[in-house]
Amino acid sequence: MDLYIVTGHTKGLGQALVAQLGAEKDIELIALGRAQDGPIPGGAQLFVDLAAPRAVETVCDRVDERLRGKRFAKAVLINNAGMISPVGMIDRVDAAELELNLAVNFTAPILLMRRFLIATATTAKVRRVINISSGAGRRPIFGWGAYCAAKAAIDMVSRVAALEAQTARTGVQVVSLAPGVIDTPMQGVVRSASPEEFVDVERFRQMKAAGELRPPADVAADILRHERSGKLFAEPVADLRTLGA
Ligand SMILES: NC(=O)c1ccc[n+]([C@@H]2O[C@H](COP(=O)([O-])OP(=O)(O)OC[C@H]3O[C@@H](n4cnc5c(N)ncnc54)[C@H](OP(=O)(O)O)[C@@H]3O)[C@@H](O)[C@H]2O)c1
Repeated sequence: MDLYIVTGHTKGLGQALVAQLGAEKDIELIALGRAQDGPIPGGAQLFVDLAAPRAVETVCDRVDERLRGKRFAKAVLINNAGMISPVGMIDRVDAAELELNLAVNFTAPILLMRRFLIATATTAKVRRVINISSGAGRRPIFGWGAYCAAKAAIDMVSRVAALEAQTARTGVQVVSLAPGVIDTPMQGVVRSASPEEFVDVERFRQMKAAGELRPPADVAADILRHERSGKLFAEPVADLRTLGA
C-alpha cells in the first residue's frame, strides 16, 4: 500500500492528481483543502485553510491519527495548493493579501513537509516530497512579487531538504517542480489582471487563445509517471518541461 497526501484538490492540477490517484488500487489517499471532511475515492478529504499555520498543524494531527498503526511501502506528499493573488506592484497591493500569499505558497508547504517527514520516518520505506513550484520562482515577473518570492523560497527549502536527506542518509527524495503553464482557474486569475497590475497579461491571454495551456490531467499524469520512475528526483529543482517522456 502506498500513501499519497495531496493539497489543494478542489480545482486545477490538484483535482486532476487526486482524480487519477483515486482511480488506482492499493493507495491510501489523503486530500487536504477547503472542502468538507468526507470520503473520496481512495481515501478521505480533510478540510484545512492552508493560510492559517495553526490550522495546518491541526490537520497534520488529524492525518497522524489516520495513519496510526499503518505501514506503507511508499509515502508521497504533493504540496500542490497555491495562489497567485495579489497581482500588482509591491507598493500597490494590500499588505494582508501579501501575507496570505506567503502563508499559502510557502509557510504551509514547509510545515506540511516537516510533519510528513516526522510522521513517515518509521512507517514508510520510500518517502518522497513533491513541492509544486513555478518558473516564476526562477525569474522576476512584474506584479507577481509574493508569488515569485514564495516559489523561490520553496525551491531553496527543497534544496536544503534534499541536502539534509543526502547527508543524513535518510533516503528521503525531494523535488521542487515547475509544472509549466496549465489550463486551470489560476490562469483565469492571471488573465483577469489589468496591464497596470501585470504588464505581461496580453501574452498570457494570447497563450490561452492559441491553446498553448496544457490540460491539468496531462500534467498530473506526467508528474505521477515521473514520480513512479524516480526520474522526478534526479535534481532537487526541476522543470516538468525539460524532463522528457
Ligand atoms: N496553472 C499554471 O499555469 C501553473 C504554473 C506554474 C505553477 N503552478 C502551480 O501549480 C499548483 C496548482 O495550481 P493550479 O493552477 O491548479 O491553481 P488553482 O486552479 O488556482 O488551484 C489551486 C488549489 O489550491 C487551493 N488553495 C488555495 N488557497 C488555499 C487555502 N488557503 N487553503 C486550502 N487550499 C487552498 C485551491 O483551493 P480553493 O478551491 O479552496 O481555492 C485549489 O484547490 C500551484 O502551486 C501553482 O502555483 C501553476
